[in-house]
Amino acid sequence: MSSRVTGDIDLAVAVLAEGGVIALPTETVYGLAADATNAAAVRRVFAIKGRPRDHPLIVHIADPDDLERWGAEASPAARRLASLAWPGPLSLIVWRGAAIASEVTGGLPTMAVRCPAHPMAREVIRRLGRPVAAPSANRFGRVSPTTAQHVADDLGDDVDVILDGGPCDIGVESTVVDCTTDPVQLLRPGSLSATDIEGLLATSVAEASGPIRAPGMLEVHYAPACRVFVAEDDADVDLISGQLAAAALSVDVLDLRRDAVAAARGLYGWLRDADRRGVTHLIVIPPAAAGLGIAVRDRLTRAAAGRSAH
Ligand code: TXA
Ligand code: MG
Repeated sequence: MSSRVTGDIDLAVAVLAEGGVIALPTETVYGLAADATNAAAVRRVFAIKGRPRDHPLIVHIADPDDLERWGAEASPAARRLASLAWPGPLSLIVWRGAAIASEVTGGLPTMAVRCPAHPMAREVIRRLGRPVAAPSANRFGRVSPTTAQHVADDLGDDVDVILDGGPCDIGVESTVVDCTTDPVQLLRPGSLSATDIEGLLATSVAEASGPIRAPGMLEVHYAPACRVFVAEDDADVDLISGQLAAAALSVDVLDLRRDAVAAARGLYGWLRDADRRGVTHLIVIPPAAAGLGIAVRDRLTRAAAGRSAH
């Protein structure tokens, strides 16, 4: 039996309540969701994704006000960011609340939490009455899904229900900010940049330092099957394609300079298309390093790093 792609919110809630796993639309990317208070259901998410157990998941809540219901001791910075940026594409690292299964955070005392903006996601979580833990609904290390079809292509029958909420509006994963440190630290850029966070807090934000704590920050990540090259301009494209010309079977160029918002929205779909068309070498010219362009560049750099190891 193949996974049910559906718009049926009642069915999605019923499956979650029974300890099942569903694909859930959010405004960033599709998530692979399970009841965050159900350890067995959460373990299934790790198994389906093929994700190491010590890579923590994001807890999704229905309403901004639920932050301190499920997380413990949110700092003033966390409370401020939640009130200003939620619902929205921002995950906050806070101290884990007692009701959240420790499997969700790989045993860490902290947890990532966000209130997504997609109305279907909020409705599902609200009706379930408990938060859902959800990583992006792709196999570990691969490109995140931004449509229900992407999820079906990746996970097939492994997921009980795929809730179809249309294409994701933003297209890259949420910004992750660690609010357990002072000053707060940016762990992953998203549609909110470090500058945006600084504006909201009216204080400085540190760049992540120390050992890697966010697996999304591992170099080999967000990688399509084709080999990705990042080019800064046309001269760069000529140089790289010249070098590839002799050996490459199929080279394509993706120019994302014009519009960073459209680049983020389309990025993962275009990477998937390149794979489907059998492109073996993809040269991408990213948008400028401002706003969403920073997040697009971040994901592309990781996609490029992922394949150059081969
Ligand atoms: O937009 C998104 O954030 C999507 C949608 C589904 O909400 N989810 C997503 O989840 O991208 P995932 O699992 O692919 O990425 C979660 C990120 C990782 O970089 C992870 O390391 C970080 O959040 N994270 C989660 N809990 C953490 C914690 N306690 N401390 C530090 N980083 C944490
Ligand atoms: Mg992911």
